[in-house]
Amino acid sequence: MITVFGSINIDLVCRTAHLPRPGETVPGSDYELIPGGKGANQALAARRAGASVRMVGAVGGDDMAAIALAELERDGVDLGALVRRGPTTGMAVITVDSHAENTIVLSPGANARLKASDLDAVRPGAGDTLLLQMEVPFAESLAAARAARAAGARVLLSIAPFLPIEREALAEADIILVNETEAADLARHLGLPVGASGAETVATLSEALGRSVIATLGSEGAVAASEGATIAVPALEVVPVDTTGAGDTFAGVLAALLDQGESLETALQFAAAAGSLSCTKAGAQPSFPRRAAIEEALAGAPSFP
Ligand code: RIB
Repeated sequence: MITVFGSINIDLVCRTAHLPRPGETVPGSDYELIPGGKGANQALAARRAGASVRMVGAVGGDDMAAIALAELERDGVDLGALVRRGPTTGMAVITVDSHAENTIVLSPGANARLKASDLDAVRPGAGDTLLLQMEVPFAESLAAARAARAAGARVLLSIAPFLPIEREALAEADIILVNETEAADLARHLGLPVGASGAETVATLSEALGRSVIATLGSEGAVAASEGATIAVPALEVVPVDTTGAGDTFAGVLAALLDQGESLETALQFAAAAGSLSCTKAGAQPSFPRRAAIEEALAGAPSFP
């Protein structure tokens, strides 16, 4: 069973030819309200990859909450431990340009009110997985990680969006997930050299921290460094429409495959393929593939055995 302790947002998405510069106003498409939030996204991606998933998060007392939870409910994510706190649900104001690049402004709303104690009644134990990101108060995530590890659960920490986390806190994660930029930021923060490639940087981080470190590399796929070995997997060749949520797809699918007992290499292949597929459709959650679609894409990809 995977427990996601993290954010739930509404994504207010507007498409535009180019992203506005400071002080500039640009014409946009009709806006859309799409369920999002890194926590909810990762929960849904894991569920669609076939895992049993519980979401522990907070929504507000507004009408946005129902929209934010719709996809999780439809796909059967366990929402029994969800809490309602404060007036507003988290909202991400997202602009996407014609090259599928985006900018995100995040209003945390109820996410800022999530507590580690919200996990008490449903704490993950031996054989379970706890999946964390950086959109709820980090002190609460850290307390959740400590409790889960003490109970024998595996902890995956996605350092997105990046915050400078101290070494002792990183030791509470079994697997650290970053993108290439976050990997470099983390290395600099820890006083470690940034490698000439993402693979070098994750190897340095993994050795220094004594933890598995995995980086997504966009169209280059993903790389993992674990116990002195490095595994690289390719992305699928796709024409990207919207990259929002691709990293969350990767994290959720990786967690699902590992939770199901698959090897790190297999989990990486599935996660990288799922991340690629999610870039081919607009929006975060509506773009997340189901397991059958991931398997089909992997079977048809020339670079996969
Ligand atoms: O990673 C994508 C997510 O980041 C969006 O769904 C948005 O809610 C922001 O939190």
